Amino acid sequence: MSRVAPYIHSSTFGNELICLTLEDQYNKVMHLLEKHPIISDQISRDELQRILDILEDILMSGIPGDVVELGCYVGTTTLFLQRLLLAYKSDKQLHAYDSFEGLPPKADQDASPAGEQFKAGELRAQRSEFVQHFRQAGLPLPVVHKAWFSNLTSADMPQTIAFAFLDGDFYESIRDSLKLVWPRLAEGAVVIVDDYQSEALPGTKRAVDEWLTTHPARVQVASSLAIVRPQAAGDGTASSSFV
Ligand SMILES: C[S@@+](CC[C@H](N)C(=O)[O-])C[C@H]1O[C@@H](n2cnc3c(N)ncnc32)[C@H](O)[C@@H]1O
Repeated sequence: MSRVAPYIHSSTFGNELICLTLEDQYNKVMHLLEKHPIISDQISRDELQRILDILEDILMSGIPGDVVELGCYVGTTTLFLQRLLLAYKSDKQLHAYDSFEGLPPKADQDASPAGEQFKAGELRAQRSEFVQHFRQAGLPLPVVHKAWFSNLTSADMPQTIAFAFLDGDFYESIRDSLKLVWPRLAEGAVVIVDDYQSEALPGTKRAVDEWLTTHPARVQVASSLAIVRPQAAGDGTASSSFV
């Protein structure tokens, strides 16, 4: 999508006519990234920008539903999702899910010599640490769900989801996340899965690819992200495609 466009909105401030262009709107993401630190090494700046650009598109195109992140750790990405929702005065509710006990045990699908450092209990953050980061940033706390994904059902998800970020690292974590969010996705919703291209975390790609064999979607791979756009039922698409 082109990121430069004619005027979309104007208003008066004092005697001045303020014209907002689409470009101004998109600068919100850049502004947030310039102004605030990325508080862990769990996401790169480029990936974070891509995630926020897509959430911004969702907000601007009026896709209904809430925003979820499964695998939120200390809140590195969650903080920015919340900042962007605030910047748009969005009424979308942000939900963050995590065991807050770190990673679960690996499945066979996760085996990789490059990923020896990822073990059960690794990447453990306390829920209080996550909450503290929101307090320090002066941001409203998302709805926080402390649970293993395998113990959740779709009833634990918002009724309608516009945007989902899945960052559970392992095969079963991503498979369970897809099962949870998919039935709740709005038409036009986007699911982003981190680590799709990670040699150290091959279970992520396996879970996504298996899911896509029975759930048609258009998929774009950017850096290590899989950007998944489910195809609406009855649109004639029988299988998933990579674009
Ligand atoms: C890579 S970190 C997430 C990083 C986070 N998105 C960020 O931007 O900082 C992975 C997180 O997923 C959580 N996780 C992984 N598998 C899980 C599962 N099956 N159930 C609950 N939490 C899980 C871990 O506890 C860990 O906090």
